[in-house]
Amino acid sequence: MEIPDGYHAVPHGKLANVQTYLEMRSQPALRSEAGEASWRLERFGEANLERYRAVFHRVGDEYLWAGRLLMPETQLSSFLADSRVETYLLVTERGDDGLLELDFRIDRECELGLFGVAEPLIGTGAGRWLINRGLEIAWAHPIDRFWLHTCTLDHPNALEFYKRSGFTPYERKIEVYDDPRIVGVTRAGAAPRVPKL
Ligand SMILES: CC(C)(COP(=O)(O)OP(=O)(O)OC[C@H]1O[C@@H](n2cnc3c(N)ncnc32)[C@H](O)[C@@H]1OP(=O)(O)O)[C@@H](O)C(=O)NCCC(=O)NCCS
Repeated sequence: MEIPDGYHAVPHGKLANVQTYLEMRSQPALRSEAGEASWRLERFGEANLERYRAVFHRVGDEYLWAGRLLMPETQLSSFLADSRVETYLLVTERGDDGLLELDFRIDRECELGLFGVAEPLIGTGAGRWLINRGLEIAWAHPIDRFWLHTCTLDHPNALEFYKRSGFTPYERKIEVYDDPRIVGVTRAGAAPRVPKL
């Protein structure tokens, strides 16, 4: 569908953002990292929705991540149980502090479905440490392409961070979705920089 130039009203209760899609088609050299001895990567094996939602909120609420919160419970459970979807947690001395999701459901591709660290870890090198683990795991599979999208509601460091990691922007999309604060799946006071309308 072609979108005419101009301003398009977004209905109340909805959010709008611009998604930038990025990809890499060969394995890059890893950038140097400075991890803490206490950081560890844990494969999230069991469908423990309470634990999953807690870390999803911890990492994503300030960026109004909503996808997994708006998914019906049975759909989320089967998504997490799918052997082609690998969910990892960054665990620190504080507990679950980061999320890395690698989705191999498309043959010979990997989508970085979710990625981020909790607020106390931003700017500490934890993002670099975690994406390096993601790059190692993704490219250990038989893939030709590793891709993701990041949006204007995500952390302002994200796009440049992904470019430095070896991803190249190739497409842009506009996304409109229910404001999770208005639906009631995210706390009402999250992301005060984005007005609730
Ligand atoms: C996007 C995100 C991962 C970016 O991470 P960040 O916190 O800016 O990145 P880091 O602090 O890990 O790394 C930034 C740089 O500083 C360096 N750095 C930071 N602390 C360091 C330290 N103590 N010692 C050495 N280097 C350090 C890193 O090595 C890295 O260098 P490089 O990029 O040149 O290789 C992070 O902001 C985040 O998780 N945001 C919340 C969720 C989000 O928006 N996710 C994106 C959704 S698509």
